[in-house]
Amino acid sequence: QTLEMEVSQIMKGGYDHFMQKEIHEQPESVLQTMRGRVKFERSSSETDRYRERRIKLGGLTEWLDTIRTGRRIIFVGCGTSYHACLAARQTVEELVEVPVALELASDLLDRRAPIFRDDTCVFVSQSGETADTLQALEYAKSRGALCVGLTNTVGSSIARATHCGVHVNAGCEVGVASTKAYTSQVVAVTMVALALSEDSIAKRDARDAVIDSLGALPGALRRALALDPELARLAGRLAGETSLLLFGRGYNYATALEGALKVKEVALMHSEGLLAGEMKHGPLALVDESLPVIVLATRDAMHAKMLSVIAQLRARRARLIVVACEGDAEVEEACGVDCLQPIVNVVPLQLLAYHLTLLRGHNVDQPRNLAKSVTVS
Ligand code: G6P
Repeated sequence: QTLEMEVSQIMKGGYDHFMQKEIHEQPESVLQTMRGRVKFERSSSETDRYRERRIKLGGLTEWLDTIRTGRRIIFVGCGTSYHACLAARQTVEELVEVPVALELASDLLDRRAPIFRDDTCVFVSQSGETADTLQALEYAKSRGALCVGLTNTVGSSIARATHCGVHVNAGCEVGVASTKAYTSQVVAVTMVALALSEDSIAKRDARDAVIDSLGALPGALRRALALDPELARLAGRLAGETSLLLFGRGYNYATALEGALKVKEVALMHSEGLLAGEMKHGPLALVDESLPVIVLATRDAMHAKMLSVIAQLRARRARLIVVACEGDAEVEEACGVDCLQPIVNVVPLQLLAYHLTLLRGHNVDQPRNLAKSVTVS
């Protein structure tokens, strides 16, 4: 018993909890996901540039043409892994221009949704062992689809049962609530989109911008992590609440869902992530001066629309908490391209969930009723 406790303390490496350690590891874990795969340097020769900045995903190389010329790409996952697919969907749509569908594994199975031979199904799972995702994989395989695995566990059931795949390489995640695996999954799907679009001259500038921003990501994550003391203070003000709403749209719809899931999972507080575009169709009825509402309004293509959401919430005297970029130009630049902002923006919400959990006196690393890997359906 004592020995076990000591080992676990050593593994936490100076942190109090695994979740806390894993949140703070994200500048390194995203780098680990990209290591040896993304070529950040630009070639000095104009003609070489396109060739030079290739994304090397060894496990997918042979399959890229099949995926590009397929009918659809269907991403399948559960929980946080599903949110990672949602966060990166638009990047795949924009860079690859193939229709993209998203499926929660259990729902895909419940509906036995049509899947065809020329579909590509991408199974995203941190553990690679989630029963619903694994069953959805068997189903897609029986329909003749190309099955791609995107897992954080080498040799896992999903990694073995798929035709090809990408290892997320975020490093071992112990906390039940997924944090660093999420950000690395979004990076991994983004790399898949970059690899699939590398033959497109029309997408060259867009790809370049994403690659530059991937290079700036660890720095941006470090800046977000520096907000830790402020989020601890904010948690102090919210710990006694019973409910929390989070609004996002565009790339940050996923951030709202993922932030709410974190708060629910570990802080055991009711929270709901909502699409800001749907606010007027129901959620607005809940808004009053007592309910705390978090709005994700960093500078991206949705910024103007989010400002109008904020104005409408203010008019209803909402208790607003806004996640925004700092005013100075340098920080704005560090925010990077829109499609990578969800990776940075989720960090304050992870920290908030962590501090809320401590203040509410719950178990951070092993929330009640939940398991790290759900191997029964
Ligand atoms: C469980 C975990 C979640 C995780 C989900 C999917 O519910 O508690 O953190 O997101 O399973 O797990 P996977 O290993 O497939 O990503």
